[in-house]
Amino acid sequence: MKLTLPAYALVLLLAACGGDAPESAVSGAGSAMPAVDPLAPGVGTALGAVPIPATNPMTEAKIALGQQLFFEPRMSVDGSRSCYSCHLNEDGNGGHDPKAIGAQERQLTRHAPVIWNVGYMPRLYWDGRTNDLEAQARAAWGGGNMGVGADNLDAKATEIGQIPGYATQFAAVFGARGATGETVSEAIAAYERTLVCSTTRFDRYQAGETAALNEQEGRGMGVFNGKGGCVACHMAPFFSSQVVNPDEAFYNVGIGIDGVAEASVDIGRQTVSQNAVDWAAFKVPSLRNVARSAPYFHDGSVGTLVEAVRFMASGGYPNKSLTALLANRALTDAEIADVVAFLGSLDCGSLAQPQLPN
Ligand code: HEC
Ligand code: HEC
Repeated sequence: MKLTLPAYALVLLLAACGGDAPESAVSGAGSAMPAVDPLAPGVGTALGAVPIPATNPMTEAKIALGQQLFFEPRMSVDGSRSCYSCHLNEDGNGGHDPKAIGAQERQLTRHAPVIWNVGYMPRLYWDGRTNDLEAQARAAWGGGNMGVGADNLDAKATEIGQIPGYATQFAAVFGARGATGETVSEAIAAYERTLVCSTTRFDRYQAGETAALNEQEGRGMGVFNGKGGCVACHMAPFFSSQVVNPDEAFYNVGIGIDGVAEASVDIGRQTVSQNAVDWAAFKVPSLRNVARSAPYFHDGSVGTLVEAVRFMASGGYPNKSLTALLANRALTDAEIADVVAFLGSLDCGSLAQPQLPN
């Protein structure tokens, strides 16, 4: 199977990026830009189509507006943060700080995850407490991340909508609805649904291009799927079981427990499920772009990918709710290095940066 793409799709993608000189979305050898039709993201790739809610259809103009809003620091209470501030290209589109620091320097409780392929994810956040991207965008915007306050979204949207370069776009995309908390979140969600990572070297290998993985990466894939037992939770093509098993893809691997008083442990999924078996369980993250997105885990407590892989392969941290699916796999240092090399074949592109309007 050849992974070429019709020229129109690329033109649409570039058009959706706004600005005439978007930052190159291809970040060097070994990483590939997810080349998809922005109006039908994922179609024709091994991931399949991103589900698009009937209530928020994709249009080029909406995606372009959402992209600008995602990069827009004027969205935050103090002008200090955009969505992008915590999902930066240099951090693999995950967080930079171990635990994110929101507007007004507010310390948040968790690490910002990679956002590639979020359009496919049936549950969002480390504890899966939200099901749709529109609601998630409003929560991040109103909550500590951007600090606007859940009750102030319409007011902030009105403010943004009065900036002339945005006024014309809101009118064109949303007509009489204008700029509101809802329409802002719809535009951002539409943009996020275009963030498809499906043409990595691993994907090319899967599609039959055997030279796309080198020998070490090939060995690492073997360990990942075999002796390492990683595939039980991080299965291709999404590298997270949450896509097939939305409500069962939460496990306690023992992160955030060592040296923490029991009453202070982040109990994760238990807050959502109200089920004691979910104590300190967190969502299986996708491993796409993982080599670029240090630090790791829901609390950002592990600084390097080698350490993260070693932790998982050695069975996690023993505690009262540790999942039985983890065990000490007795991987050698060489096997761990091979798995790390394999994970490097899952590098995604970088987000193209739009020009923000005046
Ligand atoms: C201050 C840093 C910060 C800012 C600003 C921020 N985020 Fe995040 N983002 C996070 C953190 C931390 C999490 C995980 C929170 C949790 O799981 O409880 C997260 C989670 C997410 C997720 C869920 C990903 C998944 O796989 O579950 C999405 C999508 C997302 N953010 C998009 C956005 C959007 C859209 C905005 C702007 C409206 C935004 N973020 C602003 C830090 C930030
Ligand atoms: C029982 C299911 C399960 C298995 C098996 C498993 N993982 Fe995970 N993995 C998780 C969960 C859940 C997390 C998030 C835990 C947290 O943050 O508290 C995670 C997190 C990770 C992370 C950090 C990703 C990030 O973005 O922060 C890496 C890397 C990772 N796993 C690699 C592996 C490797 C390599 C193996 C095999 C040796 C493996 N995992 C086996 C469930 C699993």
